[in-house]
Amino acid sequence: MTLLQVNLDAPDAISRQLREAMRKAHIVPLWESPIAHKPERRYESAQIWPWREVAPILDQSATIVSPAVVERRVLSLINPKPVPASSEATTGGLSASLQMLLPGERARPHRHSMDALRFVLQGSGAETIVDGKSCPMSPGDLIITPAWCWHEHVSTGAEPTIWVDVLDFALHLSLGTFAYEPGPAPQLERRPDDAIFSVANTVPSGLGDERPHSPVFRYPLANVIEALGRAPIDRDGARRVRYVNPLSGRPAMALLDCTMVEIDKGPTRPFRMSASTVCVAVEGQGVSEIGNESIEWKPNDVFTLPQGQWVSHRAVSDIARIFMASNREVYGRLGLLDESYGALVGATPAL
Ligand SMILES: [Fe+2]
Repeated sequence: MTLLQVNLDAPDAISRQLREAMRKAHIVPLWESPIAHKPERRYESAQIWPWREVAPILDQSATIVSPAVVERRVLSLINPKPVPASSEATTGGLSASLQMLLPGERARPHRHSMDALRFVLQGSGAETIVDGKSCPMSPGDLIITPAWCWHEHVSTGAEPTIWVDVLDFALHLSLGTFAYEPGPAPQLERRPDDAIFSVANTVPSGLGDERPHSPVFRYPLANVIEALGRAPIDRDGARRVRYVNPLSGRPAMALLDCTMVEIDKGPTRPFRMSASTVCVAVEGQGVSEIGNESIEWKPNDVFTLPQGQWVSHRAVSDIARIFMASNREVYGRLGLLDESYGALVGATPAL
């Protein structure tokens, strides 16, 4: 090796010759990275997709495509300023979208490696069939379609049915585990009826079901509201219930964690975590302070709580309810979950 002449006053000055050698060798100097060895972490800003803007786009989309042609009539909600910049997710590793099914339509069966959920915004007469089990779709219901479960959507109603999808699609892309299989589904073993899990504090034995997801696929809104009414005040001042697998008490799906949160006019204690969250405003109106953003929301609006941002919610109506889907479970399983609370009322939280 030849003796190098180092210019310590300009350590990042790379000659054209060296730059070209690096390019040919597929090498980049780490010291030019915008993120390496920098003390400040960048986090995404919160985004909102207001229903008043989204609904007309959905209506127009219904006139140009059908599930028979494009598999699913889905509009993806893409963060315009993702971190990292190459991401096409809604926030973090989560992908949210809006899907519409018209009367008489059928979205054929398929399955995939992603956990997915459907949170119904409006409509009646549609169902999602998950591993052969019918899950009627009414506003406010959560239908889960866990990884590798066959699922299709069918509408025999008289009005369009619209719901929010949330999937861990971006996570699987980054892990290299994205996989998809079109239907038709093979002969499926009969899944246990949801009714056998409806008696509090008991679960049937002998199911032999050790799958990493709930055997219950449909969580009706009425049940969740009843549970919220009996829930104690959580640490941040909100009432909160989690959608769980009744056999394990763990989140209903392995990698997506769902909660319903009820807030009143008092602001919730600031909270932040290393995971990301997609929110759907269900009832009432409110304001969420998310990092430096102040987001006003109404029913059917979809908005994000990006990882690392301090978050506080307050209702403008007497109470308000927000459905939340996060990848908290992913971070927990990896030992990377970091959650903290700030000071109550207006004070700048200590970082
Ligand atoms: Fe799917």
